[in-house]
Amino acid sequence: MYSCGALRRGWGHCAPSPILFFSLLLSAAPFGLLGEETRQVSLEVPTWPDVPQNLLHIRAVGTNSTLHYVWSTLGPPTVVLVATNTPHSVLSINWTRLLSPEPDGGLMILPKDSIQFSSALIFTRLLEFDSATSDAAAKPPGKPYPPYSLAEFSWNNITDSLYPATLSATFQGHPKGDPTGAFANGSLAFRVQAFARSGRPDQPPRLLHTADTCQLEVALVGASPRGNHSLFGIEVATVGQSPDCPMIQEQHSIDDEYAPTVFQLYQLLWGSLPSGFAQWRPVAFSQEKAGRESALSCQAFPLHPTVAHSLPQSPVVQAFFGLQEKYCTFNLTFGASTGPGYWDQHYLSWSMLLGVGLPPVDALSPLILGIMTVALGIPGLMLLGAGLTLILRCKHASEYQSIN
Ligand SMILES: *[C@@H]1O[C@H](CO)[C@@H](O)[C@H](O)[C@H]1NC(C)=O
Ligand SMILES: *[C@@H]1O[C@H](CO)[C@@H](O)[C@H](O)[C@H]1NC(C)=O
Ligand SMILES: *[C@@H]1O[C@H](CO)[C@@H](O)[C@H](O)[C@H]1NC(C)=O
Ligand SMILES: *[C@@H]1O[C@H](CO)[C@@H](O)[C@H](O)[C@H]1NC(C)=O
Ligand SMILES: *[C@@H]1O[C@H](CO)[C@@H](O)[C@H](O)[C@H]1NC(C)=O
Ligand SMILES: *[C@@H]1O[C@H](CO)[C@@H](O)[C@H](O)[C@H]1NC(C)=O
Repeated sequence: MYSCGALRRGWGHCAPSPILFFSLLLSAAPFGLLGEETRQVSLEVPTWPDVPQNLLHIRAVGTNSTLHYVWSTLGPPTVVLVATNTPHSVLSINWTRLLSPEPDGGLMILPKDSIQFSSALIFTRLLEFDSATSDAAAKPPGKPYPPYSLAEFSWNNITDSLYPATLSATFQGHPKGDPTGAFANGSLAFRVQAFARSGRPDQPPRLLHTADTCQLEVALVGASPRGNHSLFGIEVATVGQSPDCPMIQEQHSIDDEYAPTVFQLYQLLWGSLPSGFAQWRPVAFSQEKAGRESALSCQAFPLHPTVAHSLPQSPVVQAFFGLQEKYCTFNLTFGASTGPGYWDQHYLSWSMLLGVGLPPVDALSPLILGIMTVALGIPGLMLLGAGLTLILRCKHASEYQSIN
């Protein structure tokens, strides 16, 4: 009883305080990309007569900064993320320009000189591979089927799936032309969620989020695969401002409490920290009930420079950044030829965080700290035991010698 209490007191002193850790990191951040603990988040759907409602503006206002996430399915699903150093920056849309063949300047964040960071992610294609062929002719993930261009999808009216209470909205779509009827009962959904403060969702992989981040969950549900062992993937593009493409970093953690058996965290960083980032665990799920049994691995391939004309174009990106010649693209694929797969229940979901500033850092969870304390305690006892044995044996040996 007493020793138990002492142990707990001991923890309190040794456990790294996440708040202290975070504030140490934050004090190194230049002004403008400072994280904020809470933000006033609003979701707005700007409208224009006779135009499908396919633009969602998430505005997250802090004391000294505003983050803007402009999600749109005008063209392929796209998010433009912009951080400003004022709580008063606004989104300005010139619809005539945005909807024209040359949308340059149709989307602006004002005042322009308050912008500290901007970038975009474009989800260009849904990929499908025949994993049964991955051992023979083709390398994993296998022989590709023709991809689905996400610019050729028709998307729902975003107002119909807007939930201000949870700060979330879902873009749901299916191919405009579907000659084989693969999507007759299926859809691809992009569920977007913003946060007013930090926390962790209930559903695995339970990525730690902050008020500076936005979560995206991509779900493919009910679409008929083209083979018995189809693996799906997604092609993602980003505007490349610097000459080189951003890198995907892999981080390891011994803590898998929140995402069973997944010890890695992938991070795409747009520059040296703090800048914009995307963060995800390399895990997807083949059932709505995400858990160990339905977990699929998720492979990320390195980013490659890609010329604009080989990609479906995003009017939103052109409207904000102007005409781009070069993009950086990478593929994500979900699952392997064995184990659980999309084929089980025609279900696949994967999620990522998107944000500006410093990526959330997982502190060790209390459970893991407890396990470590116990684990480190046992070797300690063993060492003590070994030491005692050695002393006793030495003593025994010397006694023996003295007899001799
Ligand atoms: C989208 O949905 C909203 C609310 O249901 C409705 O008012 C609006 O007319 C719809 N817009 C289109 C283009 O269908
Ligand atoms: C906001 O800016 C003011 C004045 O520049 C500064 O005193 C304050 O510490 C800043 N607050 C935060 C949360 O960064
Ligand atoms: C919007 O763009 C159109 C076409 O470029 C231009 O004629 C118009 O003046 C712009 N409107 C505003 C309010 O800037
Ligand atoms: C779609 O669902 C209907 C009714 O459940 C079913 O009859 C039909 O075969 C399904 N089509 C495809 C392509 O799965
Ligand atoms: C898929 O499986 C079914 C039943 O097991 C089989 O008849 C069919 O030939 C398989 N199709 C392919 C493309 O392997
Ligand atoms: C992604 O996969 C598709 C299909 O295999 C391929 O055509 C494309 O080049 C890949 N893109 C990258 C950036 O690796």
